[in-house]
Amino acid sequence: MEKIKSGIPGLDELLGGGFPKGSSILLGGGAGTGKTIMGMQYLYNGATEFDEPGLFVTLESNVKNITWNMESFNWDIRKLQNEQKLSIYRLNLGYTADKKLIEGKINDELKVISSMVKEIKAKRLVIDSTTAFGMWLNNEMLRSMLFKFADSLKELNCTTLLTSETKGGKVDFSAYGVEEFVVDGVLALYFYPPHRSIFVRKMRGTNHDKNVHPFEISAKGIDIKHKETVMWEALK
Ligand SMILES: Nc1ncnc2c1ncn2[C@@H]1O[C@H](COP(=O)(O)OP(=O)(O)OP(=O)(O)O)[C@@H](O)[C@H]1O
Ligand SMILES: [Mg+2]
Repeated sequence: MEKIKSGIPGLDELLGGGFPKGSSILLGGGAGTGKTIMGMQYLYNGATEFDEPGLFVTLESNVKNITWNMESFNWDIRKLQNEQKLSIYRLNLGYTADKKLIEGKINDELKVISSMVKEIKAKRLVIDSTTAFGMWLNNEMLRSMLFKFADSLKELNCTTLLTSETKGGKVDFSAYGVEEFVVDGVLALYFYPPHRSIFVRKMRGTNHDKNVHPFEISAKGIDIKHKETVMWEALK
């Protein structure tokens, strides 16, 4: 199986070399656990170290907020944007409870994402976050919709990170409890002050590390201490 380097210090060691190429990976974690930073660091380092362009799709704040947030890491996002190595797209699902309308909207957005991926020849894709997808759907509908969504993303030949907001519990991996079954891999991020930690919950088709590891967020971004472990029982 071909792997791609995540570019996150310490993470590839847990994955036997990196993310399986072309896979979809869920980053699940509570508020402020580092999901957005990890997503952007994956794209930034992918573009600067491995010459792989990336697309960041945000469903959250406005695009200015993203660049502003990332400035504290000295990642020159604007330069990468100018060089067409990074694009940021704000996806807006709007407000509707009509299933047909949501499906149509998502299909339209998939077309936009697809054309943006092609435009910069993106190899890396981040969807931050998928939680808004479920706002108007029941779990069954969300599951089938996400399945279709992940399937369409597969055709783009990108390696995709999708974030999901959890309540922060030890065995919460996503917002609705169905997202983790649709993706190929799951990384769980925790922040029980003052400690941050991460573990690989699943990674289809490859062996992976089974321990929980501490990580830090510093001015250089996320740094996973892959040689140090945290006991599962020590997590709240
Ligand atoms: N320059 C920095 N140095 C150290 N830590 C930082 C820095 N910038 C941000 N952080 C930490 O990262 C946290 C935010 O991380 P991030 O935005 O990735 O979280 P998130 O999981 O996406 O949260 P949310 O669920 O709210 O979207 C901040 O709350 C802060 O603790
Ligand atoms: Mg975030």
